[in-house]
Amino acid sequence: MFVPQEVERILFTKEEISAQVKRIGAELTRDYKGKEPLFLCVLKGASVFFADLIREVEIPVRIDFLRASSYVGTDSSGTVTLETSTIPDVKDRDVLIVEDIVDTARTLSLLKTEISGRGARSVHTACLLDKPSRRVVKDFKADYTGMEIEDLFVVGYGLDCGQEFRNLPYIGIYKSVS
Ligand code: IMP
Repeated sequence: MFVPQEVERILFTKEEISAQVKRIGAELTRDYKGKEPLFLCVLKGASVFFADLIREVEIPVRIDFLRASSYVGTDSSGTVTLETSTIPDVKDRDVLIVEDIVDTARTLSLLKTEISGRGARSVHTACLLDKPSRRVVKDFKADYTGMEIEDLFVVGYGLDCGQEFRNLPYIGIYKSVS
């Protein structure tokens, strides 16, 4: 298995991730039954999680993508850049925003406000990972969460450091190598 030297330790294996994705998929199938929700993927980090998650949902769904970013290297810049031109029409839709990780929660809370303001019928959030100790937007909690982690910088399964490591099939703790 490919483990680059920047990966200090594997935190979640492919199998552990898959079990959580299946669980969230089953919860979404139950909660959105009778609706045709719009699942919105926050690029690029959530792309791998999103692709796996939608295939665990056993009701009709629509999908779309938008772009947002806030991290520079391993640090939150404090400013979320949201490419508003990438936000699709959400009017009267039941929207689920799918994110890779909630850290300060600036990104998801901004997106929730933005999507609600555009006339969505309902807006909920899903994330694979959650770092509650890093919150800046106090009390923010995604409606669906995979695993809670400590204050660690992680890569793999879509998560990057400087655009690298997104293709790793597991989630690993990142260490700088110089
Ligand atoms: P927030 O707005 O601070 O909650 O940041 C969310 C975004 O920061 C995520 O979508 C990721 O792109 C990035 N991020 C936060 N923590 C990590 C990490 O440990 N590894 C890789 N990206 C991260």
